[in-house]
Amino acid sequence: MMAGAGRRVLLVVCGGIAAYKALELARRLREHGIRVHPVLTAAGARFVTPMALQALCGERVSSDLFSLTEESEMGHIALSRSSDLIVVCPATADILARMAAGLADDLATTLLLATDTPVLAAPAMNVRMWEHPATQANIATLRARGVTFVGPENGLMACNESGPGRLAEPEAMIAAILRQLDGEKPLAGRSALVTAGPTHEPVDPVRYLANRSSGTQGYAIAAALAHAGAKVTLVSGPTTLPDPAGVTTIRVETAREMLDACQQALPCDIAICAAAVADWHVAPNSQKIKKAAGSPPPVLHLVPNPDILAGLSQPSPLRPRLVIGFAAETEHVLSHATAKRLRKGCDWIVANDVSPATGIMGGTENEISLIDATGCEHWPRLDKSQVAHKLVARIATCLRAPQTDPDPQEADERLP
Ligand code: CTP
Repeated sequence: MMAGAGRRVLLVVCGGIAAYKALELARRLREHGIRVHPVLTAAGARFVTPMALQALCGERVSSDLFSLTEESEMGHIALSRSSDLIVVCPATADILARMAAGLADDLATTLLLATDTPVLAAPAMNVRMWEHPATQANIATLRARGVTFVGPENGLMACNESGPGRLAEPEAMIAAILRQLDGEKPLAGRSALVTAGPTHEPVDPVRYLANRSSGTQGYAIAAALAHAGAKVTLVSGPTTLPDPAGVTTIRVETAREMLDACQQALPCDIAICAAAVADWHVAPNSQKIKKAAGSPPPVLHLVPNPDILAGLSQPSPLRPRLVIGFAAETEHVLSHATAKRLRKGCDWIVANDVSPATGIMGGTENEISLIDATGCEHWPRLDKSQVAHKLVARIATCLRAPQTDPDPQEADERLP
């Protein structure tokens, strides 16, 4: 049985240019066997017709608070409680404000106020409206009351402005809805290994070589995998982040310690190497290196570190079914990342541009291209936690597919 099948969603469609995407969402939900009861606001009806919504949902559209016919078929209180989840899509700045204020001046707001059913909102609006302190305060109020959110995503909007405000992609909305409906655990029974953060390579007892990685993306991936039901081991270099809930976190310092901890975590189904592992270590001095007056500065002799990702990707009985690497690049991102995937032998590589101007390394957002044997897919700039959930949704889909043998030609192309 498909995840979510037989469950019931109340879909509140509000008045924004993204309203037409609610039609696609309804269609996709029904493909999952989910029943969709549509509620259309007056503004929503300026963007999509009740006829179109009804045709795609297969259920009569409710829109009028004072309709005797609708009220006699199912009162708004019953309507608000008849579903397993209420999805507001698109959630405009206006409906979010009215929800936060507790207004009940139309059917949508009345049933949102009268319900104790979980509510998921998919915001979509102009970037300035999204960033306005009033909207952000409303979001904070609603979050504190238990409303969950999917999106918005970054990108170019209908108003020709660019930034956060685009409705989440249908795939992300479906994943969020399934998570809410079934507490869906698409990775239940799977085990995953994630590396994250930088490594510190000691030079002497007080100095080390390091990089700017914060670990945020790797930690978000570990949390998203655990949320999807996987048993997760996170092997982390030094970071200031707290251990993600429900994840076994092993803290290490150097690349060689990270390798040891990863080997201990095998076998597993999924390995994701998000760590920015130092490529070299120094044969460390046991005492602090002193500046001797008049003598030249010390020369550090760098020794290559083991490549953890390449090791995990090697064909072996312990090889995880899906091995995913990251490619941190500052130029020729796609060509370098594509070559890196083949060189390391991993299944997918997540390419990102870590040039300082992007603010990605050490920041809260990421803009990635996902490269596999079939090609490359560019994702819009997203919060790192959204990238993590989207990646985990993709992993779950991949692991549901029957396993295929590795492409022999690709193995031949792998460089030593
Ligand atoms: N990686 C690893 N062990 C290393 C170096 C890198 O596991 N010793 C992994 C990283 O976690 C990442 C991928 O390899 O998943 C690519 O890392 P990146 O730093 O982009 O590339 P490098 O292999 O270090 O190559 P270069 O620095 O030349 O780009």
